[in-house]
Amino acid sequence: MITNTDVAKRGNQFPDFITSFEQEKDKLYFTTKNGVILEITVLRDSGIRFRYATEHDFEPDFSYAISEDASTGYNHLEVTNEIPEYVIKTAKIIIYVKKDDLKVQIADLDGNIINEDELGFHWEENFDYGGNIVKMSKVTQSGESYYGMGDKASHSNLKGKRVNNWVTDQYAYGKDQEPLYKSIPFYIGLHNEAAYGIFFDNSFSTYFDFAHEKRHVTSFWADGGEMNYYFFYGPKMSQVVEAYTDLTGVPELPPMWAMGFHQSKWSYFPERNVKKIASTFRDKKIPCDAIYLDIDYMEGFRCFTWDNKRFPNPKKMVDDLMEIGFKTVTMIDPGIKIDNDYWVYKQAMDNGFFCRRADGPHFKGKVWPGECKFPDFTNPEVREWWAGLYKEMMVDVGVHGVWNDMNEPAIMEVPTKTANLDVRHDYDGHPCSHRKAHNIYGMQMVRATYDGLKKFTYPKRPFVLTRAAYSGTQRYCATWTGDNVATWEHLWIANVQVQRMCISGYSFVGTDIGGFAEQPNGELFARWIQLGIFHPFCRVHSSGDHGDQEPWSFGKEITDIVRKFIELRYQLLPYLYTMFYKYIKDGLPMIQSLVFYDQSDSQTHFRTDEFIFGEQILVCPVQEPNAQGRRMYIPLGEWYNYWTDEMVNGGLEKWVSADLGKIPMFIKAGAMIPKYPVQQYVGEKEINELVLDVYYKDGIENSEVYEDQQDGYDYKKGRYSLRKFRLRGKQDELIIQQFKDGSFITPYKTFKLQFHGLPFSIKTIEVDNEQVEPSSVKLNQNNSIEISKDFTELHITGN
Ligand code: NOJ
Repeated sequence: MITNTDVAKRGNQFPDFITSFEQEKDKLYFTTKNGVILEITVLRDSGIRFRYATEHDFEPDFSYAISEDASTGYNHLEVTNEIPEYVIKTAKIIIYVKKDDLKVQIADLDGNIINEDELGFHWEENFDYGGNIVKMSKVTQSGESYYGMGDKASHSNLKGKRVNNWVTDQYAYGKDQEPLYKSIPFYIGLHNEAAYGIFFDNSFSTYFDFAHEKRHVTSFWADGGEMNYYFFYGPKMSQVVEAYTDLTGVPELPPMWAMGFHQSKWSYFPERNVKKIASTFRDKKIPCDAIYLDIDYMEGFRCFTWDNKRFPNPKKMVDDLMEIGFKTVTMIDPGIKIDNDYWVYKQAMDNGFFCRRADGPHFKGKVWPGECKFPDFTNPEVREWWAGLYKEMMVDVGVHGVWNDMNEPAIMEVPTKTANLDVRHDYDGHPCSHRKAHNIYGMQMVRATYDGLKKFTYPKRPFVLTRAAYSGTQRYCATWTGDNVATWEHLWIANVQVQRMCISGYSFVGTDIGGFAEQPNGELFARWIQLGIFHPFCRVHSSGDHGDQEPWSFGKEITDIVRKFIELRYQLLPYLYTMFYKYIKDGLPMIQSLVFYDQSDSQTHFRTDEFIFGEQILVCPVQEPNAQGRRMYIPLGEWYNYWTDEMVNGGLEKWVSADLGKIPMFIKAGAMIPKYPVQQYVGEKEINELVLDVYYKDGIENSEVYEDQQDGYDYKKGRYSLRKFRLRGKQDELIIQQFKDGSFITPYKTFKLQFHGLPFSIKTIEVDNEQVEPSSVKLNQNNSIEISKDFTELHITGN
């Protein structure tokens, strides 16, 4: 790793004074005497791109991260030439560019500094490879905290840490270990109650130092490419994350079954074992939607083949599994076995689709099948071919989803664990070496997979899962955090990794529940399930070489607990699905770290364990053995203990009991939480009533429920149902208004409202201004009523 000091020793170069300024609409160019050009693009009033060239020479402007749908447009832009600096003003921020050294300062409209250069941009020429090591250093503001950066296994507040982004197969990684499987060079800074974000869009190996080497400096640099970063001003963290997510994109809605519970292992085979596992779920009445086939279904680990002995009739197996409500997900790796009798290998050879070394020979690396070659997924022609390879699997066999593994790419028996740095890539017409393409290689593989699945599963929605990722990969697929370990420490890591990914724009994420390496005991497994059901992607997976890791592998007590929590996930599916809808509509993370939820409360700035599932459920996993509960921080506001309905006033740390059958869990006062009945799999039952758990509040709270056909694309044509509820509670009154949007007709006709914490006995009930008899709404003492889903206003009074 190159340190600041190393860079300094080898000779940093700095911009000198500005000699010219030009403006082309939203782009501003500042050129210095020594040939540095700073290009500032005003994307939004609070979203600015900074790009630096040396020797007057920009690289072609190309990025895999940026979404085609990213919004642009601002309200105000004014540049003035003042004595020490240029002043750029938008409707939200002011940028100062110093004339004598090109340093940048960004302030809000009141003049408060949000972010400022320390040394600012500087660089060192790269003697070995050409180009520059590009570097930026910023001032660490007093009390500043740092969040984001994707899958890092460290404390959620990154202050004092240094991290590296170089996607790596990091089997059994440890806390604070670097680098891991993903490169998401985006962080959020927070000081003086205001948040901003920086996305350093550079696919080379990148480094971020958050006041680690020098207390007052935060810096980031890359082994090559350009200093090219985006700055987003909040002041709310949610605005920063939404802006980053808008820039790098969101997925389409996945099929609802992809949000069910999934069971995996390396590996379930032969066919009768797969079926046995599936039928045991049904026998034991543990809900499950998908079963995974790891590499051993293939013939000698050749992708797109089936081992005929283990799986004599894959189509029939997939159909039989479907009969009992199971979807099948198969693994595909990037390494293609070198075998002249293997059609995939032959096709790639005939078409020149494999990556080559600098001097011409093919790049070869050892993976499961032995020596392999690797398609260059950065070539659009290769991606199209790869997408087409899925036809047989998806159309003829009927597989429902695919997971792409080892796509860093992971290579065995070499110290770097990956491809040689001189390997060449097309990079969509910008030829380069693996130094530049490494971090986006897996992303381009999974993009091709997604393209194939989208085509071949049509009119259903595709489901794809990846291990490696760069910023923007969230547009194509779900992801998991790789090869974790069955330890209590890893349960802690799982929690921070998922929170961190969610506030880094990548919400469809989960961990190998129970741990991939080693064997959990029943208690750890149960505690992990209790956390995992709140993760957007919820799958048990294990290496399988230490024993079984199915929900029933740890005795009856654990099985019953696990079943109870998986059932809870299925009940919460409409809530979860609504979270997903809000994620893709507004870029709102599906899981919010407490600091994201309430940045104005400084108590939240160093919390790691508690998080908000969606917007209204507070969860805090128990992360140690033999616990009967734990201390946790309850954020400001009123919260109901999910298990007891006891109300807590937040803003304090508190002991919360949670024996092995419970997880500390609170519902925000005023929330209306939608629930479906327990199903063994998505679509098992016709939903004939929507339960709404109504948590009384003296005040106002809004809730939403999004529903559609749970698959297919009709929702894009307006065939969805979005219900917005506005709850207003007073001492002896409760008013709920409903606003509806979309043309999808939900199958149920009634809501069952279950009241929690109602401080009065119900005296009268009015629906749309008409008084109704308690019996006609099945008033069950004070607890629940059943009413038509079509009401506009429900008015309850009490005494
Ligand atoms: C590594 C993956 O991370 C793991 O999930 C998988 O089981 C093995 N490769 C085998 O395919």
